Amino acid sequence: MIKTLVLYESKYGTTWEASNIISLIMGPSRRYPISQFSDSLRDFDFIVMGSPIYNGKIHPKMEAFLRNEQEWLSGKKIALFCTCFSGSKGLSVLREVEDSLDDVLELGVFGGRLEMDRLTDDDYQALTEYLSKEGLPPQGMDLFNREEIVDWALRLKDIKDSLLDRLPLSQLREAVENFLKEHNTCTLATGSSGRIRATPLEYIYNQGHIYILTEGGEKFANLLFSSKISMAIYEDYTDRDSLCGIQITGQANIVEEMAEYRRVIKIKGMDMHFVKSLPLDLHLIRVDIEKVEFLNSDFKKQGYSIRQVLEF
Ligand SMILES: Cc1cc2nc3c(=O)[nH]c(=O)nc-3n(C[C@H](O)[C@H](O)[C@H](O)COP(=O)(O)O)c2cc1C
Repeated sequence: MIKTLVLYESKYGTTWEASNIISLIMGPSRRYPISQFSDSLRDFDFIVMGSPIYNGKIHPKMEAFLRNEQEWLSGKKIALFCTCFSGSKGLSVLREVEDSLDDVLELGVFGGRLEMDRLTDDDYQALTEYLSKEGLPPQGMDLFNREEIVDWALRLKDIKDSLLDRLPLSQLREAVENFLKEHNTCTLATGSSGRIRATPLEYIYNQGHIYILTEGGEKFANLLFSSKISMAIYEDYTDRDSLCGIQITGQANIVEEMAEYRRVIKIKGMDMHFVKSLPLDLHLIRVDIEKVEFLNSDFKKQGYSIRQVLEF
């Protein structure tokens, strides 16, 4: 596991909220304000640090932390983010911090939020001066955009995956294919414009595709609008040393082409006479796999990361 630490400083809660979103999406991680930093946290692998921008600088506590902890931080993979009113200022401040560190992988600049009636007298005064300098009216602002923080967190998650101790590609592909062949039941998640559906279904895996024969149902209300799907196939949970499950991201297509349809019917051990004799239409969905995320305790036992990611 890539041990991930999210450290933040926040005066009025905006950077706290951003750090919360990032930590939730990045998966296994710990999140602390700088004031709760302790020596034991130095053995984390990936450090995400976030600060608001006040008067053209990062928060003094973050500044002091970076100065005092520079030595061990230099050996770590790092991502930096800030919340602020001026994106260009935020970026130039983060770039300065980046220059003082060795291995910064990503920078994130997010819109900030302030309510004037929550400010201390000093902050009210300083903010009014800052806003008039920027030619902005002396009023609260809300530039906070969850979407852009979510996108950034997803990018960090991909970066984190790239740091895993990876199984050789051919070995991973074989493990994925074996798992898919050894199982026959999945949960297919479909969604479109506010509608979501998780459907347990029998499937077969054949030559890089997953096929599902189905009598129809609500999943098509989504698939007709969006072919984006996610699938989960997994073993029952017993204990943390025996985790085994796959999440798939891909596109689901309704197969209209008869040659492909017939081929799958044959693989399923059925014939077309039987299919035609049924009192219902049997539809065929083909899932084109884009990405497989495989959690398997056996990988860890072999000296690799428990989580492996395979792009198809
Ligand atoms: C006194 C004061 C000074 C500020 N100075 C800047 C600044 O120089 N540049 C900027 O982009 N935003 C500035 N801001 C906006 C804050 O960075 C923004 O509201 C931030 O999201 C607050 O984060 P927090 O709620 O986590 O403390 C300032 C806000 C205050 C109250």
